Amino acid sequence: MEKKIMLTGDRPTGRLHIGHYFGSLKNRVKMQNEVDECYILVADVQALTDNFNNPEKVRKNVREVVIDYLSIGIDPEKATIYLQSMIPEVAELTVFYSNLVTIARLERNPTVKTEIAQKKDVFGESVTYGFLGYPVSQAADITAFDATIVPVGEDQQPLIEQCREIVRKFNSIYGETLREPEAYLSETKRIKGLDGNEKMGKSLGNAIYLSDSEEEINRKVMGAVTDPGRIKKDDKGNPSICMVAYYHNLFSSKDEYECVCKECKEGARGCVACKKQLAKNISDFLKPFREKREYYEAHPEIVDEIIIRGTEKAREKAKKVMAKVKKAMQLDYFEK
Ligand code: TRP
Repeated sequence: MEKKIMLTGDRPTGRLHIGHYFGSLKNRVKMQNEVDECYILVADVQALTDNFNNPEKVRKNVREVVIDYLSIGIDPEKATIYLQSMIPEVAELTVFYSNLVTIARLERNPTVKTEIAQKKDVFGESVTYGFLGYPVSQAADITAFDATIVPVGEDQQPLIEQCREIVRKFNSIYGETLREPEAYLSETKRIKGLDGNEKMGKSLGNAIYLSDSEEEINRKVMGAVTDPGRIKKDDKGNPSICMVAYYHNLFSSKDEYECVCKECKEGARGCVACKKQLAKNISDFLKPFREKREYYEAHPEIVDEIIIRGTEKAREKAKKVMAKVKKAMQLDYFEK
């Protein structure tokens, strides 16, 4: 039987939010029990591709992201959490793969295209070689661990496709060496922001973080966008264009959600009451995460130890895969 190996990760540029949770974190917690090996990388090198001028931001968020992982139930006994910058094999592999990808192909990658358009403030009119090439380094992240399953949000799918192409090209030139990974997408596609934006994102200022306090959640939910046609409390509303109803669907029971929609349509429930109830449900949902986070925040040495041990273990694995790659590429000089 072929081994099932899961690998995924995040750029440490901020804390994780509920969009990440429904997008892929939830799947990771589940999958860590179902695979033979499980790796979660903190992609600090990738984070530098669009934050090269802000290294302190990346550094500061490494531990935050790891604490987010631990607080949602990623178990370091099952999942190997590691730092990308401490696995030099991945950088090496990126160089080898860069011969197998054209610039035109990278420029056509939908994920890269969207991001370049969003990051005009960083790149101006001309993007860096490093950012344009980050799909290549992401392919190295995945294949350096021989990963087969990659739980990601749907916006990342073109990067997995790009990785599969690199694998096929590599194997066709150097012989069957690498395995093609599959993206593992969540059923709840991308979740919308509190402002109704199609995407929840830290740069968009419309996110609820896994670590937000009850007060923060309250404040954010109170500002959520509702049916603009509903001005007075007893006006009839349209829940299908209300972000509060949208979130009730994610965080409240089915009965509660149906009741919210019905009363909104009849004008029987005011938006403020509806928001208060939602804020409470979100808070209750996040409470166990917050409690675990407090524990790890009080014990940073435990978090560091998890990263150090995980990185050592990850490096051993990457070295083994690298040996196979070098052999295939006839770079195994002086190996016995
Ligand atoms: N691109 C991902 C993000 O921005 C992070 C990432 C880096 C990743 N390497 C990866 C995800 C490998 C999955 C597999 O969130």
